[in-house]
Amino acid sequence: MKTSNLKRLSFALLLAFSAVLPHPAWAASPAPVKAEHGMVVTAQHLASDVGLEVLKKGGNAVDAAVAVGYALAVVYPTAGNIGGGGFMTIRFKDGKSTFLDFRERAPLAATKAMYLDDHGNLVKGRSTDGYLAVGVPGPVAGFEFARSRYGTRPLKELIEPAVKLAREGFVLQQGDADVFERAAERLAKDAAAAAIFLTPEGKPRAVGDRLVQTDLAASLSRIAEEGPDAFYTGAIADLIVKASAEKGGILSKQDFEQYRVRELEPVKCNYRGYEVVSSPPPSSGGVIICEILNILEGYPLPYLGYGSAETVHAMVEAMRHAYVDRNTALGDPDFVENPVAKFTNKAYAEEIRKKIDPFKAGVSELLKPAGFGESSETTHYSIVDDEGNAVAVTYTLNGSFGAGVVAPGTGILLNNEMDDFTAKPGAPNLYGLVQGEANAIAPGKTPLSSMSPTIISKNGEPFMVIGSPGGARIITITLEAILNVIDHGMNIQEAVDAPRIHHQWLPDKVFMEPYALSPDTLKLLSAMGHDVEIDENWTIWGQATGILVGGESVSEIQAGGGARYNGAVDSRIGAGAARGY
Ligand code: DON
Repeated sequence: MKTSNLKRLSFALLLAFSAVLPHPAWAASPAPVKAEHGMVVTAQHLASDVGLEVLKKGGNAVDAAVAVGYALAVVYPTAGNIGGGGFMTIRFKDGKSTFLDFRERAPLAATKAMYLDDHGNLVKGRSTDGYLAVGVPGPVAGFEFARSRYGTRPLKELIEPAVKLAREGFVLQQGDADVFERAAERLAKDAAAAAIFLTPEGKPRAVGDRLVQTDLAASLSRIAEEGPDAFYTGAIADLIVKASAEKGGILSKQDFEQYRVRELEPVKCNYRGYEVVSSPPPSSGGVIICEILNILEGYPLPYLGYGSAETVHAMVEAMRHAYVDRNTALGDPDFVENPVAKFTNKAYAEEIRKKIDPFKAGVSELLKPAGFGESSETTHYSIVDDEGNAVAVTYTLNGSFGAGVVAPGTGILLNNEMDDFTAKPGAPNLYGLVQGEANAIAPGKTPLSSMSPTIISKNGEPFMVIGSPGGARIITITLEAILNVIDHGMNIQEAVDAPRIHHQWLPDKVFMEPYALSPDTLKLLSAMGHDVEIDENWTIWGQATGILVGGESVSEIQAGGGARYNGAVDSRIGAGAARGY
């Protein structure tokens, strides 16, 4: 056979092969952690240990998620919290699923223009620093809602490990200390925060130091004894409201008393035969992941290959279109009509594909709807138990250490989630997101989120649990981990480690993590009209934690299967761990 015919034949074989089986990536990543009965993957190893113990003692995945949520509030104070908010996606062993929204609500005294000066200009720092930035926190209510309906163990038992870690302290490792180093200047501004997280000399706590949090231990013990009332109607609410009033905030006791968890129907879609279950509004995450997946389903990504110019072009254009929808049309479902059905519809994706030029970058400005105008620490954890129940939780203080304030006497760090609202239509927030009226501030309203705790199943069986922090990039980080597994054949560790790209409509730029794309690919993208910028700020590229069920990769599953549970903590995380048994 002539060489050219041989080439043509092997190309045809490659095409046929790639249509059915993704290529194994063989990237340089450590092996995923393997286990047969349960898996807990979190951003802090001590919290993973806590979750694993709950599972080993016969608690289910929801019990473990509650215990991990409290433990991270102690050992991962940059994002783990009880003074912030979050989401929990649960897929039960029988295939049913649900979603809990325990995100912050705007205080009743909040107003649309509260972060603007008399001339209508944004006042720098007002929506991010100090008590005016704080939304009414939800985790204590959320964890109790989850535990009392879907858990099996008493609250006291699940909080106890967190109380112990706070009271006795824990020794900081490098990954823990890095976080304090970066936040020291900000924490120094709040005496109560500085007293906990800085040394008496005002220096960040360092490797080998023991972090003891006595006030936090007392607050957690109170919650263990009295339940969520301690937080919402009792002494803790009083202390937070007092501090807020003294330091320029607007939180009232009524805000705490009125806080309610919402149980919502998750967003669902199907990608190449995989069932995706993810976050509905007030998160944009699930809707936009589904919208992008629907668009990308029309492109042969396994054949085009990871990191090729054609794959990246398709991804970027899908992201561009979907983020317009995110930033202009979505908001708290109690306040605005969210076109979820439309945005997650396959026919809508087909319409968008028709608008995408295969050879040319789109122009974001041209997609701006008539009459129109997101930050950096969150954490995600993924859990599966022996029965096959799966839980994905993403929760946050929004920015690192939230608003940088601790209400004296509570030990509780408070969020700056109010910055996720549209403080001013058209003006970018902490994450550069340019958003519209649907996400305007109103009393009792929840700001639009990107948090995307996601669970995927195949043929009725759990397949993947995934999510990440990363502000506006949470959506594309989670999406890319899914594509890396399903389309590019990576194992779960490779999938969360692989360098990422991101586009969010505005600014009209493709952001890439260092080394994500080769110089050749960059030239091809540039020739198509893409403006690609290397973003070296590693803190914004997220920290995914994932679990794959039935094998470490699709090819292992298709070849007959591997370990039942395969856990991976993103190599970008300093202190995390996947623990299984
Ligand atoms: O809810 C949201 O979308 C943001 N508050 C998340 C912030 C975040 O991920 C920061 N972490 N890197």
